[in-house]
Amino acid sequence: MGIITLSLFTPLTLTLTHMQGRHQMFEGIAVHQHLCWALLYLVAADVALAAERLQPCPQSCRCNTELLQVNCSHGQLRTTPDSLSQDAKILNLTHNKIKTLGHQQFQTLTQLLHLDLSDNLLAVVDLEAFLGLQSLLTLRLARNRLKIIPVGAFAGLSNLQFLDISSNEILVFLDFAFRDLVALRYISAADNDLVFISRQAFSGLTSLQEMHLDACNLTTVPTEALTPIRVLRSLHFHRLGLTTLPNYSFHHLVHLKELVISHCPWLETLSGNSLFGLNLTSLSIRHGNLHAIPYIPLHHLVYLLFLDLSFNPITSIQGNLLGDLLRLQELHLVGGSLLHIELGAFRGLMNFRLLNVSRNLLTTLESGVFQSVDTLKTLRLDNNPLACDCRLLWVVRRHLYLDFGKHSPTCTTSLQLEDWTFLDFSGGELQGLLTCRQPRILNRNPQRVIVDQGHTVMFYCNAEGDPLPRLTWLNPQLKALSPTGRIRALTNGSLEVRYAQPQDSGTYHCVASNAAGNDSLPVSLHVRAFPSSHKKPFPFQGWFELPSASPGVNENQKLPFDVKTLLIAAAIGFLSFFSSVSLCFIFMFFWSKSKGQIKHTATIAYVPRSAGSNSNRGTGNYMETSRFTMKLI
Ligand SMILES: *[C@@H]1O[C@H](CO)[C@@H](O)[C@H](O)[C@H]1NC(C)=O
Ligand SMILES: *[C@@H]1O[C@H](CO)[C@@H](O)[C@H](O)[C@H]1NC(C)=O
Ligand SMILES: *[C@@H]1O[C@H](CO)[C@@H](O)[C@H](O)[C@H]1NC(C)=O
Ligand SMILES: *[C@@H]1O[C@H](CO)[C@@H](O)[C@H](O)[C@H]1NC(C)=O
Ligand SMILES: *[C@@H]1O[C@H](CO)[C@@H](O)[C@H](O)[C@H]1NC(C)=O
Ligand SMILES: *[C@@H]1O[C@H](CO)[C@@H](O)[C@H](O)[C@H]1NC(C)=O
Ligand SMILES: *[C@@H]1O[C@H](CO)[C@@H](O)[C@H](O)[C@H]1NC(C)=O
Repeated sequence: MGIITLSLFTPLTLTLTHMQGRHQMFEGIAVHQHLCWALLYLVAADVALAAERLQPCPQSCRCNTELLQVNCSHGQLRTTPDSLSQDAKILNLTHNKIKTLGHQQFQTLTQLLHLDLSDNLLAVVDLEAFLGLQSLLTLRLARNRLKIIPVGAFAGLSNLQFLDISSNEILVFLDFAFRDLVALRYISAADNDLVFISRQAFSGLTSLQEMHLDACNLTTVPTEALTPIRVLRSLHFHRLGLTTLPNYSFHHLVHLKELVISHCPWLETLSGNSLFGLNLTSLSIRHGNLHAIPYIPLHHLVYLLFLDLSFNPITSIQGNLLGDLLRLQELHLVGGSLLHIELGAFRGLMNFRLLNVSRNLLTTLESGVFQSVDTLKTLRLDNNPLACDCRLLWVVRRHLYLDFGKHSPTCTTSLQLEDWTFLDFSGGELQGLLTCRQPRILNRNPQRVIVDQGHTVMFYCNAEGDPLPRLTWLNPQLKALSPTGRIRALTNGSLEVRYAQPQDSGTYHCVASNAAGNDSLPVSLHVRAFPSSHKKPFPFQGWFELPSASPGVNENQKLPFDVKTLLIAAAIGFLSFFSSVSLCFIFMFFWSKSKGQIKHTATIAYVPRSAGSNSNRGTGNYMETSRFTMKLI
């Protein structure tokens, strides 16, 4: 880089910068023409005028008159240079030591399009600092020390489209701080220390399409403040201190297409209506604390194409719950805690083409999770403890059509195939290597049980197979039984019928199923009704902790009380109650008499308490609240 300095017959000094390399610069002819023009001009007009028209390039800047660019980067400047060419279109003041921007600092630069003040020490921007920059399109103030943006600082920037105020120390956005930026389309306020965004802060930003509030320490969603930004299409949040995304957080942003919420380590849930009003095509909630896919808040997003829930401790994708997202094409759930993706998880998603579930805890991925494996183009399944058996055969069969993104899945839990990648297989080997064994129920001894009403019964079921079969119990109506309730399928495969009732009688089925098929075992239960004197069924089942039945059936087990005892206890309780009530009445009678107001009737509601060990455990339901009316003299 050489500097040619020409001293002319006036105090005017012309400093020309000559840059070597590809950069177009003053070359012979250009220099000549320029000088001729300058001299002619000086002759024709007075010197002062010429000096104004042909601004010298300020010291420590490089000027490119072809591109009308002034580059003062790394110039050790403490203030903005004052003798800048009025024609300049680009002004680069980055990496200097500018601390303040005064009132109308850039007044003369009416042609300027791009101003970059990043990486300075700016702490103060005066009112109307940018007034006069009527053509300015981009303004960069990143990595400075701004703590506040005074209302009116951006006055006059009526054509500004791009504003970067990221990595400053701004704590609050005041009302109307951006009101003059009517043409602004993009703002980045990432990485500030924002604690508060005033309600009207964004008013006036009527053209804003994209906003980044990343790495701001906000603890709430600034719902009200976002309301005036009607045309916003993309909104990025980062590091929000929320545990729940509240209802109607974004409900005015009807044009929003992309929402990114990331690095919110406390974000556990999305309220049912938190995304209400949105019509997104892309949603990312990354690095949060979601334990489940927020099916309900998502379900109205029927135009959603892209969903990213990576780095949340989500353990499963349930079956048949994402079908409302009928246009969904991509799901990313990387680095979660996925243990299984249930059959039918992506049912209804006709355009589903990318599944990215690397770095989870999946042992398999069955073809039945998809509406159709034909639409799937990209599958990231690496870094999962995959068991290579017949369930993954479809992946291997389609490996020519599937893009594994340079990370082919590997078998980790099958001893024989350990650390094989899927690309190692050839067609012929497959059938023999990726196998499953049909389930077989062990110990098929007939289980037929006859019990008296009220007893607890247990049936057993145990099966083998590869992969290990899943056990389900079907009731006599062939409906699957859940792990809760009076009749329940325990996790260890047993079926428990507590306080058996006559209507529980019938044939139950244990079904063991895996990817290779199923096996089933019928068991039968007959429950005898109580003899007539005991006919009344206990309506308070579950209130008494009956000692758990030992394996099989406990024919002789008694309930820890009987009805007769209960009635006597209740009667005793009633007598003592009655006497105290009478006493009370006598007292009341004398008292009211002395006051001269005689009340002739009184209605008393009571719940008799029964004596004995069962007094606080459940007799209340049996003895209903009673009521009686007494007539006084
Ligand atoms: C401006 O100057 C800096 C430092 O001399 C240089 O790194 C940068 O590339 C220049 N920018 C342009 C657009 O010429
Ligand atoms: C913002 O959060 C960062 C990281 O959590 C923290 O270091 C910083 O002190 C916070 N700033 C404010 C103003 O709270
Ligand atoms: C959010 O809306 C859902 C659905 O209307 C409602 O069930 C829930 O209680 C609301 N949550 C809060 C915190 O208001
Ligand atoms: C939702 O967005 C899609 C395109 O992204 C658009 O076609 C559709 O009309 C929008 N629906 C509503 C109700 O705005
Ligand atoms: C899967 O997700 C990870 C993490 O978000 C990303 O880096 C990677 O590019 C994604 N892969 C594909 C094929 O989209
Ligand atoms: C299954 O669990 C129940 C209670 O949790 C227990 O009573 C039963 O013996 C268990 N069955 C087997 C086969 O271990
Ligand atoms: C068991 O397998 C048969 C066919 O082999 C199938 O029709 C049936 O639906 C399966 N039952 C269950 C519960 O999986």
